[in-house]
Amino acid sequence: MTEAVEILRTDRLVVRRFTFDDTEAFHGYRNDADVARWQGWETPYDRAVAEQLVADFATGPAFVAGMWTQLAIERIVAPGIIGDLGIRLEAEEPTAELGFTIARAHWGNGYGREAMRAIADFLLDDVELDRVVAITHRDNIASIKSLHHAKMIPVAVDGDEVVYYRPRGEDPRHRNPQAAGGDDVGGSTGPTTRP
Ligand SMILES: CC(C)(COP(=O)(O)OP(=O)(O)OC[C@H]1O[C@@H](n2cnc3c(N)ncnc32)[C@H](O)[C@@H]1OP(=O)(O)O)[C@@H](O)C(=O)NCCC(=O)NCCS
Repeated sequence: MTEAVEILRTDRLVVRRFTFDDTEAFHGYRNDADVARWQGWETPYDRAVAEQLVADFATGPAFVAGMWTQLAIERIVAPGIIGDLGIRLEAEEPTAELGFTIARAHWGNGYGREAMRAIADFLLDDVELDRVVAITHRDNIASIKSLHHAKMIPVAVDGDEVVYYRPRGEDPRHRNPQAAGGDDVGGSTGPTTRP
């Protein structure tokens, strides 16, 4: 087992840098058509692509503006990743775009919302970004519910995709829904494809 650099911890989860040992599990959920349904990759998912990506995630630079950083999600009680978080810091704005994936065997246990809530809290409260955004398909109910739990609200629609956001220092879910619907997302560059 190579050493994993921990980024944050929740009640049940550790969010950490990838290690080479994560390749098998990463390929497993990327190769699942149900997981890929709303994502930017196709199945069957090439094993060599998974190996190269995990190597990049494990050894490449993290949190470089304009580039996606992929972090592994692991349960505290059991070693081995169950999914990942994607974070892309904007180059021009104190903003991050977020993405998340949980392996199908672990859906419905609250891990997605726990991880998304934790990374949003971390980036807003500790890193002190101004806002986080996430883009999801309008029919991706599990994602939409998880984003709501992470205190994110919809602010823009682009075709079938909905842009969610949360600013630092307030819970936008408590705003008037009419007002929330018209918000500016503050210079988000719109959909970008994660690796
Ligand atoms: C989106 C995703 C990360 C959510 O992970 P998760 O750990 O299952 O989420 P949670 O357990 O926190 O569930 C959040 C809510 O979605 C519901 N949910 C979970 N799986 C669901 C499914 N397949 N269909 C409908 N609702 C579902 C849960 O019941 C929960 O509802 P609640 O708020 O009423 O309690 C996971 O479904 C996933 O990886 N999907 C594929 C990748 C993806 O679409 N990522 C998002 C791209 S923006």
